[in-house]
Amino acid sequence: MTRSTEGRTGTALAEGGPADGPMVRIEDLHRSYGTGAAAVHALRGVSFEIPRGELVALKGRSGSGKTTLLNLVGGLDAPDGGRITVGGTDLSELGEDGLLELRRDRIGFIFQSFGLIPILTAAENVGVPMRLRRTDAHEREERVALLLSLVGLGDHAQQRPGELSGGQQQRVAIARALANRPALLIADEPTGQLDAETGLAVMHLLRAVVRSEGVTVLVATHDPQLLGFADRVLELSDGHIVEHG
Ligand SMILES: Nc1ncnc2c1ncn2[C@@H]1O[C@H](COP(=O)(O)OP(=O)(O)O)[C@@H](O)[C@H]1O
Ligand SMILES: [Mg+2]
Repeated sequence: MTRSTEGRTGTALAEGGPADGPMVRIEDLHRSYGTGAAAVHALRGVSFEIPRGELVALKGRSGSGKTTLLNLVGGLDAPDGGRITVGGTDLSELGEDGLLELRRDRIGFIFQSFGLIPILTAAENVGVPMRLRRTDAHEREERVALLLSLVGLGDHAQQRPGELSGGQQQRVAIARALANRPALLIADEPTGQLDAETGLAVMHLLRAVVRSEGVTVLVATHDPQLLGFADRVLELSDGHIVEHG
């Protein structure tokens, strides 16, 4: 098995569906919370596409619907109307098990609050998604070591999250998100809890993994200094998408 040692993985893209279609296609997406006069229309007909291998930034003020949109693309929530296709798969055609597999095998999630398990070491945290997938132990350990060195934490494998800085914790979370060779990374304000300099370093890292791992990235941020890393910037405003460059 050479899968775990190769730098760039053809498998994630091959499993993603037709190789020439976009990684993500969103058509006329609607999502509201509540009913009647109290209803909040977070998304009012959102449409866009993300080509494979692009890093797309989603901006918009707090409350503009960024998290709502990311949760829908990641199969964590279902829309009231419209269509979401990830790697050629229409999410509405997946049952609970199908969505679970999609989230485990094809999408990596990165959150503002890192979401690491405090009692596990950095290496064990990175290995969790592979344990869920019952990856062979030897292959798992090789992949964990490769990913920790990719994010510059090869010397910190045995430290627990509480023994790492915020920036280091987020780098562990990025390594974990890449564990199962996802085709798509979804990051919700990944630098929101970091100082400006550390936030920049984390965005540099995300930019680098787009190349080395061949993933597509959708990242929500309201930090203007991070938008320069994106191939394209989408802005959410009044429940609609405005596209920039
Ligand atoms: N679970 C929920 N129940 C009710 N309203 C919600 C819920 N989640 C989000 N909202 C509302 O939907 C809108 C969009 O929220 P959100 O997607 O979190 O925006 P952002 O991530 O851009 O800050 C906001 O008005 C928010 O208050
Ligand atoms: Mg949010």
